[in-house]
Amino acid sequence: MPPLPGDTAHLAAQPRFPDPRRLSGLGETLVSLARSIDREDLDGVARRLTEAAADAIEVERASLWLFREDRSGIRCVDLFERSSGRHTSGLELEAKDYPTYFGALESERCIAAADAQTDRMTREFRDGYLLPLGIGAMLDAPVRVGSRIVGVVCQEHVGGGREWTPEERAFAGSLGDLVALAVEAGERRRAEEELRSSQEQLRHSQKMEAVGRLAGGVAHDFNNLTTAILGFGKLLAKELPPADPRRMFLDEILKAGERAAGLTRQLLIFTRKQVAQPSCLALNQVVERMQGLLKRLIGDDVQLDARLEPGLWQVRADAGHVEQILMNLAVNARDAMPDGGRLVIATANERLEAPQPGVPVGDWVTLAVEDSGAGMTDEVKARIFEPFFTTKPIGKGTGLGLSTVYGIVDQLGGSIAVRSKPGAGARFVVRFPRYTGTGSAAGVPAHEAAPRTGLETVLLVEDDPQVRVLAATILRSRGYDVREVAGAHQALRVLEAIGSEIRLVLTDVAMPQMSGSELGARVAHQFPGIPVLYMSGYSEGTIEGHEKLPRDLELVQKPFTEEELLRRVREKLDRRSERHA
Ligand SMILES: Nc1ncnc2c1ncn2[C@@H]1O[C@H](COP(=O)(O)OP(=O)(O)OP(=O)(O)O)[C@@H](O)[C@H]1O
Ligand SMILES: [Mg+2]
Repeated sequence: MPPLPGDTAHLAAQPRFPDPRRLSGLGETLVSLARSIDREDLDGVARRLTEAAADAIEVERASLWLFREDRSGIRCVDLFERSSGRHTSGLELEAKDYPTYFGALESERCIAAADAQTDRMTREFRDGYLLPLGIGAMLDAPVRVGSRIVGVVCQEHVGGGREWTPEERAFAGSLGDLVALAVEAGERRRAEEELRSSQEQLRHSQKMEAVGRLAGGVAHDFNNLTTAILGFGKLLAKELPPADPRRMFLDEILKAGERAAGLTRQLLIFTRKQVAQPSCLALNQVVERMQGLLKRLIGDDVQLDARLEPGLWQVRADAGHVEQILMNLAVNARDAMPDGGRLVIATANERLEAPQPGVPVGDWVTLAVEDSGAGMTDEVKARIFEPFFTTKPIGKGTGLGLSTVYGIVDQLGGSIAVRSKPGAGARFVVRFPRYTGTGSAAGVPAHEAAPRTGLETVLLVEDDPQVRVLAATILRSRGYDVREVAGAHQALRVLEAIGSEIRLVLTDVAMPQMSGSELGARVAHQFPGIPVLYMSGYSEGTIEGHEKLPRDLELVQKPFTEEELLRRVREKLDRRSERHA
């Protein structure tokens, strides 16, 4: 044994020869610790380990420390003080403050400082640690996994110095080995867990891809079928005289055809066959604009909270698609809360430094939608993104909502995760990749980011059945409740019956019997709260009788695009609700 550094004259007398009873006591301690470490995580045995170590070699303080992730220092997992029986944890020591000691951990099997305050390897601790705590001697062993030091096991003698016997040093070294085994076992368990979860992830994405291919094929054929049904149906409608009683049947066929076309559109989004028009987006703005609509959607029993992170990073996405995501998640949340509850929509910036299942490292913008509803079982959770998977009664759900969301998110290079337990609500988190390209969101024309969806009841007045079907289909596909009539007189009858439900009158201008402008004037007089939006093939200056039109006349030019109609309707409705707010 090399001579110990420092003045050893005051060291407490220690037995020179191994005491067989003590020796077997130390061995038994190690064996029993090894057994419990085998069965439990390190966290579970840390307290037992420090207690057993302190008792076995009779020191006041025994502790276990592990290196922090970045290896810049160590953190105390557990410290046991024998006289008080107290456990504490959390203290941290920086490696740069104790270079000799941390260097020694790398090279020594055991740091046995009989006089810690003068020992070369431990005297760095004197003023800040040893003196205040009255520690005289230290017996520390590094925890070595392979060639890596992951922590240290410490025994500290309070009072004067203390000579450490070879058995005690061997014991400390073995303690370090035991902890190393536990750390290794934990790492192995975690690695297995990660492997299992990434295999699960892979299986899931393969399944979704296969389902997507199948659905894509079906949707493609379906699109052709519905195009034919609607195309020929409309041709036939033109042939039939307006009063023909068979018109009713044909209308039903056309309505069913439109629904089929709507479903096909959703499927095409899921299978990424629909063209997206991505632009640079401020997600918070989309959420803000949608709030009014979402509130009406979820009803009064559900409280809506929006927690939008200021300074949110930008994303690149199709505004319509983001609206669709919000709508679908919100509708699901509402369905899960038939007796009311709480819906939280939150946005946040997220910098991931370690990968998570299905989410690589990087900058993400998260959109979380959380409800306090019925929640779901693991079996349901495993299938929710499959197209046509629904737990809702026939006629209530088609099972396309979440698969559409999945398709959109996937197309954007993002991800979606869900956490839910039966009875404990559900939390969906959509991650969008951060967009750092040029083109500020503020530069996006307002209408591109504006929601084009709505739930309001719109009275559609149009004598041309084709235009009427077209306009009604476009509006219904975005959630609106549309009442269709072919002329102004009928429109007034509907208004008299259910005027309080109508939020907007959308009317053609040139119609037989009574023109749209006359209808507009009557509406302004009889139902002053209901705004009127006109559709016409004429330009604004040439409408006959335009002097009778209200001053805030607004015209949608025919032929209109889907986008144009939806935008104008939404704008008109929003301006009205702003005035009434
Ligand atoms: N917030 C939620 N809480 C509880 N269960 C949910 C929630 N969101 C989705 N689910 C479950 O996932 C299933 C699939 O949802 P998805 O939106 O794809 O279809 P759907 O809502 O049933 O029908 P659709 O959206 O086509 O009208 C739902 O039937 C429901 O069982
Ligand atoms: Mg749904």
